[in-house]
Amino acid sequence: MILVTGATGHLGGATVEHLLKHLAPHEFAILARDEHKAKSFIEKGIEVRIGDFDDTDSLDRALNGITKLLLIPTIVPHRLEQNKRVIDVAVKNKVKHILYTGISFKNIEETATAGLEAHFETEDYIVASGLSYTFLRNNLYMDVLPFYGGETLYEKGFYLPAGKGKVPFALRREMGEAAANVLLQEGHENKIYEIAASELYSYEDIANTLSKLLGRSITYTDADPETFKQVLIENELDEFIVFILTGFNVDTKNGHFETLTYDLEKLIGRKPIGLEKGLVEVFRLSQ
Ligand SMILES: NC(=O)c1ccc[n+]([C@@H]2O[C@H](COP(=O)([O-])OP(=O)(O)OC[C@H]3O[C@@H](n4cnc5c(N)ncnc54)[C@H](OP(=O)(O)O)[C@@H]3O)[C@@H](O)[C@H]2O)c1
Repeated sequence: MILVTGATGHLGGATVEHLLKHLAPHEFAILARDEHKAKSFIEKGIEVRIGDFDDTDSLDRALNGITKLLLIPTIVPHRLEQNKRVIDVAVKNKVKHILYTGISFKNIEETATAGLEAHFETEDYIVASGLSYTFLRNNLYMDVLPFYGGETLYEKGFYLPAGKGKVPFALRREMGEAAANVLLQEGHENKIYEIAASELYSYEDIANTLSKLLGRSITYTDADPETFKQVLIENELDEFIVFILTGFNVDTKNGHFETLTYDLEKLIGRKPIGLEKGLVEVFRLSQ
């Protein structure tokens, strides 16, 4: 039996959507913290197991009889602790194969993003646990670009401390599809996949493509990281979000996401969506 965590979220939701194309609703289960949030899954006939990464007993009940587990971590500062709890409970419940969605990153020792190393520490913990694993190291979501652009994108353009760094931005729904295929297929045990588009994009590329799509100029300004952080703080963004936003973009500037792989392409059986079509989708532009 498959269990998908994070199913009420974006990535897990996309995974479930793809699973439903190949499995009957009763052939897998999802983990949710709250039955109300999981209403749409219950209505589809999917088994909803209530569990919280912060509650060992709930996880123990939820993982009973599970053989394949997709662990999508949260973004909270103590996620390593949560992940270790899930892994321990998975071992106790004799789960055979765990899929973990971490991050595709060149040199984690040099990261400017607080807490990012937790993904690699989780992977080490999984390897040490003896469970069969598949590590789906997701590169950055193209879906976050409207958030990175902010409310002033159309007037002021992108203002980010990302330098000339390039990122193989991919759609979260295609990453979910890849995760679903790994759940559905055999032969992915003890493999590591770098999940990313098959092309690299700079913010200049993104601004230029968006300009073309909108028929108006969208600029990109390379921000000084400290000034950028201050601007976010003045705009009353949550401190943790400020660290994440600054960190991811400084890491971009330093080339840590500049990895070109074809793992996503192989896992979904086609080229991932390109920049132009992807931007139409994430910015909800009609063509
Ligand atoms: N690669 C990237 O660009 C990028 C960007 C952002 C984030 N990420 C990572 O990718 C993960 C998934 O992204 P997403 O967009 O799908 O996130 P999301 O939409 O925020 O979904 C997070 C999911 O985690 C669940 N969750 C939160 N706390 C939990 C807990 N204590 N126990 C059990 N489940 C819990 C949420 O359940 P509820 O519905 O109950 O809240 C939700 O289903 C993030 O958490 C983060 O680690 C990657």
